Amino acid sequence: MSHPLIEKFRHAGQAQVFAFFDRLAPAGQRQLLAEAAEIDLAEIDRLTRTLLARDAVAGVDLGGLAPAPYERRPEHGGDAVAWGHAKAAGEAALRAGRVAAFTVAGGQGTRLGYDGPKGTFRVTPVKQKSLFQVFAEKIHAAGVRYGRPVHWFIMTSHANHAATEAFFAEHQCFGLDRARVHFFRQGRMPAVSFDGKILLETTSSLALAPDGHGGSLRALERSGALDLMKSEGVDTLSYFQVDNPLVRSIDPAFIGWHVRRGSEMTSKMVPKAYAEEKVGHFCTQRGRTVVVEYSDLPMAMQRETDAGGPLRYLAGSIAIHVLDREFVRRVAAGGEGVSLPFHRADKKIPTVDAAGNDVKPAAANGVKFELFVFDALPFAKNPVIIETLRADDFSPVKNARGVDSPQTCRDDQLRQFGRWLKANGASLPTDATGLPRLALEVSPRFGYDEDSFAEAWKKLSPKPGLTDGLYLA
Ligand code: UTP
Repeated sequence: MSHPLIEKFRHAGQAQVFAFFDRLAPAGQRQLLAEAAEIDLAEIDRLTRTLLARDAVAGVDLGGLAPAPYERRPEHGGDAVAWGHAKAAGEAALRAGRVAAFTVAGGQGTRLGYDGPKGTFRVTPVKQKSLFQVFAEKIHAAGVRYGRPVHWFIMTSHANHAATEAFFAEHQCFGLDRARVHFFRQGRMPAVSFDGKILLETTSSLALAPDGHGGSLRALERSGALDLMKSEGVDTLSYFQVDNPLVRSIDPAFIGWHVRRGSEMTSKMVPKAYAEEKVGHFCTQRGRTVVVEYSDLPMAMQRETDAGGPLRYLAGSIAIHVLDREFVRRVAAGGEGVSLPFHRADKKIPTVDAAGNDVKPAAANGVKFELFVFDALPFAKNPVIIETLRADDFSPVKNARGVDSPQTCRDDQLRQFGRWLKANGASLPTDATGLPRLALEVSPRFGYDEDSFAEAWKKLSPKPGLTDGLYLA
């Protein structure tokens, strides 16, 4: 059968997309045509030439690379007065209703292997709250604390959008005002074989995958979220990932550093735990701030130390940012050299063989193209990087077992609750790592950071016993 779109694909060397077209039922034909219409063939051709060609694997440009400066925490020698000013400025921005929360939740979560949107995964130690519930309660509590309910933008994918909305509906948005919770889908890209041929997932559908967390910037624009923010007086976005319940979803000092410096993008770093830790590295390069992935930074540089002291490339990225609304708009629009590059990720991509039978590959058989949000940093005016404590901000659930798993995340939540209690005079049994030896959970509605916890704890009378476990709500 001939169709202008099929012709276009044939011309672009992508005829295999329609190899089974004539055998499909009309509904299947319509689906395949609709998906094919989404594809920017010129973009796929460009990515094939730049990212897949044999000579394209030359590696990233490391010229002029140096560690990026960052604002140290006061306890690590940073300027306590400046941190105090930052916190006050962030609180003022929150009281003025300028800040929205933004969660990227469009990932596929393949490593965790959980069936459902990752945000619905239960993570807390006692009440088994879902990731979404934890964030919702933190956002609610911050709104109460600063007297201005906080808008929450949640980016989903085509695959998990309906299930995500249904989950929130089922739980009445966890007490948040439905009118302030906004869902939108991210874009998607076709997966290709190693020679750049667009892969079919079934005979009637393309192998389409979300376009990476960096796709959030253009999705914010395309969905109308930026316009909505503008009409609501929101100019600052607190960006975090769906897999990290420890994150201070709303952190006044972080927001304040951003505001006071007139920054377009502000990021949190943690000192790397060890040289080979698999995190991106904040660096500068020819006057710009960049994040270099661990896979792109030669091991010798990852291990380099400053005069026998700490690691030279110490600043690890933990994917927590503050973004200026109009900066997002500028990056989303592209143009004038402001565009995020695609990265290739070699993956096992379910597809069909020449006879149209399903194939579940045992090894990587193709490439997905992804945008990364930290690639916006080089385009930001006055970028700022601030230090945070890992224990207060970062314990993601990535894997089913081992590092960054539900178990490590639960333990880190317990340690945080334990620290808050101890800092306020409670005594509780812990092991040498600070892990409480009792069932313990603090609802974000009670306290969602050390300040809000301390205030709530002070008011609590009588203080609860700590022998049989505790849930503070
Ligand atoms: P990850 O890099 O951990 O990817 O995403 P993932 O897809 O969730 O998990 P794996 O690699 O398949 O196991 C980090 C954050 O970025 C979001 C995820 O939802 C998570 O919050 N993300 C990632 C998106 O929103 N869209 C994407 O296309 C990719």
